[in-house]
Amino acid sequence: MFDLILRNCNLPDGRRGMDIGIRGGRIAVVEAALAGVAGESIDAAGQLVTPPFVDAHFHMDATLSYGLPRVNQSGTLLEGIALWGELKPLLTQEALVERALAYCDWAVAKGLLAIRSHVDVCDPRLLAVEALLHVKDKVRPYLDLQLVAFPQDGVLRSPGALDNLKRALDMGVDVVGGIPHFERTMADGAESVRILCELAAERGLPVDMHCDESDDPLSRHVETLAFHAQRLGLQGRVTGSHLTSMHSMDNYYVSKLLPLMAEAGVAAVANPLINITLQGRHDTYPKRRGMTRVPELLAAGIPVAFGHDCVMDPWYSLGSGDMLEVAAMGLHVAQMTSQDGMRACFAAVTATPARILGLDGYGLEPGCRADLVLLQAGDPVEALRLRATRLLVLRGGRIVARSPAAVATLNLPGRPSRVDFSHRT
Ligand code: FE2
Repeated sequence: MFDLILRNCNLPDGRRGMDIGIRGGRIAVVEAALAGVAGESIDAAGQLVTPPFVDAHFHMDATLSYGLPRVNQSGTLLEGIALWGELKPLLTQEALVERALAYCDWAVAKGLLAIRSHVDVCDPRLLAVEALLHVKDKVRPYLDLQLVAFPQDGVLRSPGALDNLKRALDMGVDVVGGIPHFERTMADGAESVRILCELAAERGLPVDMHCDESDDPLSRHVETLAFHAQRLGLQGRVTGSHLTSMHSMDNYYVSKLLPLMAEAGVAAVANPLINITLQGRHDTYPKRRGMTRVPELLAAGIPVAFGHDCVMDPWYSLGSGDMLEVAAMGLHVAQMTSQDGMRACFAAVTATPARILGLDGYGLEPGCRADLVLLQAGDPVEALRLRATRLLVLRGGRIVARSPAAVATLNLPGRPSRVDFSHRT
């Protein structure tokens, strides 16, 4: 009757001891004590089963290039962009594909099955675009890769960038990107937002811009982004990524800005690992954290996702595709340590980015794709605390990755011989 039943699962919404019946690659039933036979049955033993992790913001064309051709000495965004500029002429399509596929292997092992990746369109050869479109096709059976046409050097500042961006969209890139704070002037930044939003409206595409990735409190391009989203009827299709300047903005101004973003249906993506690393570099002390105002955005009804942004590239030397690490950093930086706050941070790497990406069939409802992750944790908070091991990762009801449980063996007088760090209340 079922191809597979996962028994005794805890779910992210708090339901415990549920059985998930899977048929034809989709979830057929979710209920307690499910009757029926299955080709295979797996006992989840009261551990958390969640739809997969989703990364709303990544750069797959740069990933795993750390040290090529040198490392970032200052640790700043601007040296990272300069370093990427040095690397670009040396890129080959083979190397881009190989690194991206290697990262997708890591992602699957970590239960990360959907990624929105920006791809730089400022190289007229569009080498990275071709490479990532190839990768997108290749990984489709096990990972949803959505691509954003990203003019890294500025769509107005970099000669030919707008034409290249349009060519990338013609080739099948899914989303219109931008970087208004990197244009030559505030006025050019605002103009770039207008041009790119109009292009997206014309083509019926979503928008996801790097926006105000700066400690400058007067970097206010998100206001312009909200304005054009509203004007062009793009509600629900526009995302502002980073928004770090909001950390430093005047509080009165932010109290006006957040309702405008909510009204315009603009979503936000914070990148906690990268924001805490790159921002505040010009400060002495006190040193700003630089992450956008996550709890305040959420309170205003604005969807907020967390992205990984970078793994071992010109901007960031660490990372492993672990969205629980991203969410754990986010909850610390935003001080979202209440139970509700931590659950919102778990949602920021699962259900919320799934909505922002418009993923089809994501979730635990009957009819959803049987894309699931069994974690070595009892609930989302324990998963965050432990950066829990992904015991099983399923795509369309098929196991695509498994990891052994994290257990230590002890040799102590009068103490248990085994410790797994669980502490369930
Ligand atoms: Fe980024």
